[in-house]
Amino acid sequence: MTILRFHQRPSSLSIAFSSRHERSFSGSSELVTLTTRRNQCWRFSPLKSSNGSPLAGASWKDDGKEMPVPKVPDIGSQLAENTVSITVVGASGDLAKKKIFPALFALYYEDYLPQHFTVFGYARSKLTDEELRHTISTTLTCRVDKRENCSDKMEQFLRRCFYHSGQYGSEVDFCELDNKFKEKEDGKLANRLFYLSIPPNIFVDVVRGASRSASSPNGWTRFIVEKPFGRDSESSSELTRCLKMYLIEEQIFRIDHYLGKELVENLSVLRFANLVFEPLWSRNYIRNVQLIFSEDFGTEGRGGYFDHYGIIRDIMQNHLLQILALFAMETPVSLDGEDIRNEKVKVLRSMRVLKLDDVVVGQYKGHTKGGKSFPAYTDDPTVPKGSLTPTFAAASLFIDNARWDGVPFLMKAGKALHRRGAEIRVQFRHVPGNLYKRKFGTDLDKATNELVILVQPNEAIYLKINNKVPGLSMRLDSSNLNLLYSERYPREIPDAYERLLLDAIEGERRLFIRSDELDAAWAIFSPLLRELEEKKVVPELYPYGSRGPVGAHYLAAKYNVRWGDLSDSS
Ligand code: NDP
Ligand code: BG6
Repeated sequence: MTILRFHQRPSSLSIAFSSRHERSFSGSSELVTLTTRRNQCWRFSPLKSSNGSPLAGASWKDDGKEMPVPKVPDIGSQLAENTVSITVVGASGDLAKKKIFPALFALYYEDYLPQHFTVFGYARSKLTDEELRHTISTTLTCRVDKRENCSDKMEQFLRRCFYHSGQYGSEVDFCELDNKFKEKEDGKLANRLFYLSIPPNIFVDVVRGASRSASSPNGWTRFIVEKPFGRDSESSSELTRCLKMYLIEEQIFRIDHYLGKELVENLSVLRFANLVFEPLWSRNYIRNVQLIFSEDFGTEGRGGYFDHYGIIRDIMQNHLLQILALFAMETPVSLDGEDIRNEKVKVLRSMRVLKLDDVVVGQYKGHTKGGKSFPAYTDDPTVPKGSLTPTFAAASLFIDNARWDGVPFLMKAGKALHRRGAEIRVQFRHVPGNLYKRKFGTDLDKATNELVILVQPNEAIYLKINNKVPGLSMRLDSSNLNLLYSERYPREIPDAYERLLLDAIEGERRLFIRSDELDAAWAIFSPLLRELEEKKVVPELYPYGSRGPVGAHYLAAKYNVRWGDLSDSS
């Protein structure tokens, strides 16, 4: 739905569209020209609302007086001239099937996609449109508020999906794709989004071919680039340099899907929209911060990719570090994407470079439990025998700035552990001169206030407080003030890829990684990664399905810290 809000005379006309983020547009590509019935030419820029709720009406104010609402059809027909072609490059692959097509359908189902859109799958495999549609259809679900028209919506969506078989480095094949785009665009304003869901060694080939032969002639052309963005500082800079031979930074949307997760997005709201947290958010009150990722399955099926990267590059250098940056950054000037990314770069650049002493690495070994056998990492046929690639790592990181000086940020990430989850744990300092300290015995850590943000699964935010057990005696226990999302917000939470795809279509860069952020992130990890490989550091073995190597406890103990996930029964 379109909402019209006219301020003053036509020379400063503005129009608000219902959408998710409040911001005004200034870039020329965002400006739309409107020709009225009286042949006046007005330019307006779309403004977006923050919550997506459609506003109820329209008004036109002239010198502060409400004026009759102007006719909408002129505007509607102009807007309807925009088209978006979304091309999933690597459409035959795992990520495309598992995440990208279902996310596009979910957006369509929820009416978030523009009126005129087309989805293209591009890959080398020889498929017909029908075959692509069949493959996609097996992965689509009407997951949010299942409505009766689900199968109709699926049918309508699939009719807008097409397939083009081509080589990744062939400009001729991208030229043919360009012809197909034009057919669908039918002379309308053409916006084009390419999602590179392919192995990184062919990113540049695709960008060269697509940018030269299939860029939009009159609208925007954007590329979503999947991780990994290189293996270290040098290869990452080289990738950026090559991409920038064909694209400008504003066209590159480097995706880290953790930034699209609901509770990660909520971090800034928690910090900056609540008086109670921000004053505590520093070394004065926080003893340590823990960022924990665990999966209860191994690298099954992805061993070939994984062995070249390992858990530090796969999870820590991107997903966990991005969360850390959002957690620890200073207050941005505004919610504008560039302001937020400026603050993230600043905090990343204040971080100490990781050393071997700050890290413990592990690798899972085979294990039999309840008569069932679980394979070792090196049992995977795509993993070289004797591989030293870590499937587990724990690290202690430090931010050398005034806010965080001396506070350990402990990261832990592992595959084939005892459970699946991602969480942020903030352990506060002990209460000085605590009147009740005798009630806690000798273990003061038991009385630690801890803020826990469960990113997944079972999204929740809870704060551990000390409380009197009701009764005539004075007994204390640690209880949770608990915000369990499934109880408070019964509606299903959208997948991270939905939010990120929609942002890329809308040109919102806040949740994508800028090249200087990437440089700063690699600078922290690259020397360590080099040293691990040069010294051939042997990972500590841990059984599949266990809590990981014991070395992680010693690392935490060095800083007087206990991992919260292991002692927490919640
Ligand atoms: P796949 O290995 O499934 O590859 C995607 C497609 O690329 C394949 O279907 C194949 O299509 C083509 N392809 C594969 N290998 C080669 C090759 N050596 N040379 C040329 N083309 C090749 O990848 P995923 O779908 O798993 O991942 C895509 C991207 O997303 C990668 O960068 C990955 O790191 C990233 N990613 C993946 C995640 C996942 O869960 N799968 C999670 C997060 C990121 P065809 O042969 O038809 O051309
Ligand atoms: C990807 C990693 O980036 O994130 C995978 O490459 C990992 O190894 C995945 O399994 C985890 O994502 P999620 O959203 O399932 O936690």
